[in-house]
Amino acid sequence: MGVRVKTLLIIYAGHPGGRTARLVAAAREGVAQVVDELGEESVRVCCVPALQATAEDVRAAQAVLLATPEHFGYMAGAMKHFFDTTFYALEPHTLGLPYALLVSAGQDGTGTLTAMERIITGYRWKRVAPPLLVVGEPTPEHFAVARELAASLAAGIVVGVF
Ligand SMILES: Cc1cc2nc3c(=O)[nH]c(=O)nc-3n(C[C@H](O)[C@H](O)[C@H](O)COP(=O)(O)O)c2cc1C
Repeated sequence: MGVRVKTLLIIYAGHPGGRTARLVAAAREGVAQVVDELGEESVRVCCVPALQATAEDVRAAQAVLLATPEHFGYMAGAMKHFFDTTFYALEPHTLGLPYALLVSAGQDGTGTLTAMERIITGYRWKRVAPPLLVVGEPTPEHFAVARELAASLAAGIVVGVF
């Protein structure tokens, strides 16, 4: 009997084709590398815009990467909407869910990170990697870190280290 394929859920906000979207594309490449190494039946990535992400998407995943730009010192409204619309449905069911954060900001980003960490405390998810905060235009190093971050999340849920 086969082991069920694991899912890394990426929930993202930001402008189409923008910095966050490009960092998320790098993150997806990271998961693709893991799939190349471990096989199609190991892990898959599910990538959903924050306005469309549902509690069911999260409950079907073994880890979550949340990616957003900073808007007015806070996460994008779309990401806040995700939290606003899923809290009651998720809080009792996703205790300890591994997660990581990716924030793209023009010059700061700390308000977004602090707010997201505070909200996620209420969900009681488990932070399994340091957040990736990208200030300004992402460099090749940032894209490499985004790839590595997602790859480590994907490999971690396959191996069961979290
Ligand atoms: C409406 C709006 C508000 C913003 N507010 C902030 C802010 O408070 N702090 C900051 O560092 N950058 C701010 N920025 C810059 C964005 O965070 C930054 O350009 C980010 O990389 C955009 O990501 P995206 O291309 O994925 O949309 C703002 C941008 C917009 C459009």
